[in-house]
Amino acid sequence: MSSALPPAAAPGPRILLGVTGGIAAYKGAELARQFIKAGAQVQVVMTAGALRFVTAQTFQALTGRTVRHSLWDEQAEAAMGHIELARWPDAIVIAPASANFLAGLAHGFADDLLSTLCLATDKPIYAAPAMNRLMWANPATQANMSTLRGRGVRVIGPGSGAQACGEVGEGRMSEPEGIAREVLGDFAPSGPLAGLRAVVTAGPTREPIDPVRFITNRSSGKQGYAVAEALAHLGATVTLVSGPVHLDTPAGVRRVDVETAQQMAAATLAEIEGAQILVGAAAVADYRPVSAAGQKIKKNADTLDLALTRNTDILSAARAEQPQLFIAGFAAETEKLAEHARGKLQRKKLDLIAANWVGEGRAFDRDDNALQVFWTDGERSLGPAGKSEVARQLAALIAERYAATHAGRK
Ligand code: CTP
Repeated sequence: MSSALPPAAAPGPRILLGVTGGIAAYKGAELARQFIKAGAQVQVVMTAGALRFVTAQTFQALTGRTVRHSLWDEQAEAAMGHIELARWPDAIVIAPASANFLAGLAHGFADDLLSTLCLATDKPIYAAPAMNRLMWANPATQANMSTLRGRGVRVIGPGSGAQACGEVGEGRMSEPEGIAREVLGDFAPSGPLAGLRAVVTAGPTREPIDPVRFITNRSSGKQGYAVAEALAHLGATVTLVSGPVHLDTPAGVRRVDVETAQQMAAATLAEIEGAQILVGAAAVADYRPVSAAGQKIKKNADTLDLALTRNTDILSAARAEQPQLFIAGFAAETEKLAEHARGKLQRKKLDLIAANWVGEGRAFDRDDNALQVFWTDGERSLGPAGKSEVARQLAALIAERYAATHAGRK
């Protein structure tokens, strides 16, 4: 795994998570997970004390990045020197922040990697203190905290309650969800969908017949990717659940790759937890082979029967799990567009359906598209225009319909 600079167009704010020594270090792992889930990029830096409580591997597995912990690691320094590392994040979040680390920070020490990074940055620093209640209440700590606050360090917590040392009082690290919310809130985009989470399915699925063959649908994924990008532009935090396509992940969008319809269903149902909007732009295979052959099927016979079974309808399953979710689907039709699209709108209990004519060279593998969008008591034509323009219009319509039907009940 490399700790080189990530691509510029990668999603979310860049967060350098500093983990210092203390029993709350394990909560740092949950915080890393929360940041990642929200689409942030997370680089963890641990102090020597932190390494006594949690392993670097834990954070590495969660963030997908090599954890940094030493100023003197030649290999890591060669990949990204500490000054470069200090420039990388949009914010430094120290959680848990021990009394000792905060004292060092207040006095400008640069005696390990994390303290050096804090001194060598002009980015916002957040600290979530965690310590015994008497250490927190000690005037030395309180003086350090007032120095740090005075310099613009944003202090989150601590909370009060039962402590690992058996005492009860103020000094517990704030809960990871609260810390994540506070930090990410400062980077929240603006726009009509700000503060909302959207999940978009895109691309085809592949249903294996044997190790080298599969059933699939024609889909470039372009329209779904463009919708994901357009929703992100309107301020939504977007996760793209994508089948195999040859497209770059849009800037600011988190992508989960899947292959089969079953994987897409599982990933989508997991991702819609806490989301407000789902857009089903994927061309999901309606059927899959009852069982995939373990070995390549040989052409011994003139005919070959392939038993197929229905795949779960992802949008219907999502509706069953989340009655409040705003769900937009797509319909590809070769005839009776309005009738078939409205039928799907009702059957799948969608909030909106975007229908397009397909066949005869229309829509597939092309950069332009036209959609007829239907909802219970309305319809609108979008395009014809480039797929990104149509996606922008569709995202704006989704925002409009969401506001009309769901405002005040997110
Ligand atoms: N969809 C889904 N899960 C499936 C199948 C489809 O989520 N297993 C979604 C698609 O992403 C799309 C919409 O449902 O948003 C399309 O509905 P579907 O009934 O599959 O449309 P067609 O394939 O056009 O249906 P039909 O074959 O009945 O015309």
